[in-house]
Amino acid sequence: MAKIKVLFVCLGNICRSPMAEGLFIHKVNERGLQDRFEIDSAGTSGWHQGEPADSRMRGVARGHGVNLPSSSRKLLAEDFREFDYILGMDASNMRDIEDLAREGRSSENKAELIKMRDFDEHAKGADVPDPYYGGQKGFEDVYEMLDRSTEALLDYILEAKAKLI
Ligand code: 4NP
Repeated sequence: MAKIKVLFVCLGNICRSPMAEGLFIHKVNERGLQDRFEIDSAGTSGWHQGEPADSRMRGVARGHGVNLPSSSRKLLAEDFREFDYILGMDASNMRDIEDLAREGRSSENKAELIKMRDFDEHAKGADVPDPYYGGQKGFEDVYEMLDRSTEALLDYILEAKAKLI
């Protein structure tokens, strides 16, 4: 059976999208669904290509028992044909993702593009703010937003794909 493919995207692919990816992997594993999913993350910029997640983000993740396996890569036009769901983090990020989605063989795109906090009951549709130039609190806040959002995202996908699971 085909796997459900989920891609988390931010700007640098070293803070927000690796955290979302790690949390989603953790939640999928907790529900015993690891064989049903393929989970990845990418950045629109490519500035940090090949780098692990930011040490501040990994520190917060570790404190919550979550591992971040990501190695930064750039978002590619082919990702829109490969993945079922692509999650962006803020308004500017969503515009960059949508611009790239219109490039290449876009008629073959299948990914559903969704803003990550559309799934956050505390602030539906808000941005996940970029924590890179801020302090520790910003990283903790990002964790909390993504913890709520990835939980609701998993429920949404499981309902949409119920027949496949
Ligand atoms: P991210 O955060 O998009 O959550 O990975 C950033 C990381 C690096 C930079 C910007 C945002 N940067 O300017 O290098």
